[in-house]
Amino acid sequence: KGQVPVITIDGPTASGKGTVASKVAEALGFHYLDSGALYRIVGLVCLRANVDLKDIAAVTAHAMGISPVFAGGRISLGSEDITNVIRTEDVGQAASCIAVIPSVRNALFELQREARREPGLVADGRDMGSIIFPDAELKIFLTASAEARAHRRYKQLIEKGIDVTLDDLVKEMKERDLRDMRRAHAPLAPAEGAKILDSSFLTIQETVDKILYWWVSRSH
Ligand code: CDP
Ligand code: CDP
Repeated sequence: KGQVPVITIDGPTASGKGTVASKVAEALGFHYLDSGALYRIVGLVCLRANVDLKDIAAVTAHAMGISPVFAGGRISLGSEDITNVIRTEDVGQAASCIAVIPSVRNALFELQREARREPGLVADGRDMGSIIFPDAELKIFLTASAEARAHRRYKQLIEKGIDVTLDDLVKEMKERDLRDMRRAHAPLAPAEGAKILDSSFLTIQETVDKILYWWVSRSH
């Protein structure tokens, strides 16, 4: 008792975590934490600074230095709106490279924990239910077939004006999921007690409704 409620939504790339998590947050009047954006921002900053993504000291220094502002669905870094630039697959790959470094994960730990504010939080990522909020009231592991995920991401990027081919995307997503699953620290896997939700054949609204149903019918 006394803890601010948290719903965690973890899962592989393009399973719909971000879209679904922000809609669940909106429905409940909760805050929303996009933890992947933090790793993407560190990836972006390192790419721009030409840092070797395996240089632990340099990448960690950059991770400790970021102070992004999340407001009105936009993300900014200093005076720059980086909402769209962090969504490319290049930045996603860089994010998953730097995310294997434990000291980078530690540098982002407090930033994520601070997002837990009244009246509640919906957090999405890879380790929200396992590491960051192990005491969350409701934990979801959101998945979808590789095919469904590739098509969703393809459509999303094309609509944003980001040029990709479906073949490259399938290859890159597979590579990134494997790297996320095989890493030693905070690997992508369902957290203990997580409900597995396969959205391959569900619309966004059906997925949101399922989670809201689990939320209202949870045992206290
Ligand atoms: O955050 P994550 O990478 O898991 O996925 P997302 O960015 O929320 O969703 C990827 C794309 O799939 C978005 O364009 C969503 O609108 C779409 N989507 C969908 O078409 N059907 C679903 N059930 C879930 C997501
Ligand atoms: O939207 P998508 O699911 O493709 O990726 P994301 O959630 O924005 O995360 C980008 C990368 O950051 C992932 O591939 C992970 O390697 C890393 N990440 C992580 O390690 N832990 C998290 N809680 C969130 C993201």
